[in-house]
Amino acid sequence: MAIKEIPLEKLDTEEFIAQQVAAIRAAAADGVALSALSGGVDSAVVTLLAHRALGSQLKSYFIDTGLMRENEPQQIVDWFADLGVKVEVVDAADRFFDALRGLSDPEMKREQGITQPFYKDVFADLLRRVNANILLQGTNFTDVQETAAGVKRQHNVFEQIGIDPRKAFGYKVLEPILALRKPAIRAVGRALGLPAELAQRPPFPGPALAARIVGEVTRERVAIVRRATAIVEACLEDSGAFQYLAILHEDRVTGVRDGKRDFGYQIEIRCWDSEDAVTALPTDIPFARLRTMADRITDTVPGVVSVTYNIAAKPPSCIEAV
Ligand code: XMP
Repeated sequence: MAIKEIPLEKLDTEEFIAQQVAAIRAAAADGVALSALSGGVDSAVVTLLAHRALGSQLKSYFIDTGLMRENEPQQIVDWFADLGVKVEVVDAADRFFDALRGLSDPEMKREQGITQPFYKDVFADLLRRVNANILLQGTNFTDVQETAAGVKRQHNVFEQIGIDPRKAFGYKVLEPILALRKPAIRAVGRALGLPAELAQRPPFPGPALAARIVGEVTRERVAIVRRATAIVEACLEDSGAFQYLAILHEDRVTGVRDGKRDFGYQIEIRCWDSEDAVTALPTDIPFARLRTMADRITDTVPGVVSVTYNIAAKPPSCIEAV
């Protein structure tokens, strides 16, 4: 199925919402549907559309993959409670760390370590548990475009690369915002009443912090990038940038601490100016602010001795490292 983009300037948010609500109702009929929140605006918008369409026929979950940012599960539960939507947190960390063990190739991590446990294991179990046969997800136009072009296998793209989720996983996947890119998704979110702090949140990838770890993803390595992420996000939240993140590299380098050799980790900070994630430029961050982040990271994230700032553009770089 060829999807036609609805650009922001052609989007009538009320008409779009009415159409998608009707389509979700028609697809679910009298059955139960399941929505999985990730902390990003895409899944938040889809959950609100589905909640409007289905009310108590919708079951909403936050899958705690163990790869999430600090305090993310509780933050999402609280935001949605304020919007009248009950979100249950599902602890699936063991399943993801088991699947990710020993993998360091980026595409294998995405396919075997993220996509398979999400769809074959966690979602399939949840759908069975609540007797649902539809999964709603926030795949957007950029996700499809990048996966179809072979840039990287985004965890949430199937039909457009020839995979029928009904055959592969045994359930139907509904994607209400497939025709939209980020600015249009945010506009729909605002029209649905998403609080500004959620509607304007920088994007966060489905594979979560696993997309920001070069090499094997272990609990210990996630803890390092999670702490560095919290520092980078706190320092850059007023930057106006499209997205900002911390990456943990695989190579270690020689440093010195308290007069002794410290063979430690390297964190790379990335901060992007972009409209829709298709192309992006590094943000011109004042040097003093970069230095503040570097000191906070080396002072408080155990084992980190080197901090760099990415100055390459996308393309040829990508926003995430994996
Ligand atoms: P890249 O790294 O390809 O990312 O420049 C483009 C945008 O997509 C996000 N991203 C993902 N989002 N599932 C998602 O839902 C994924 O597998 C995924 N990979 C990347 C990324 O954060 C950026 O905004």
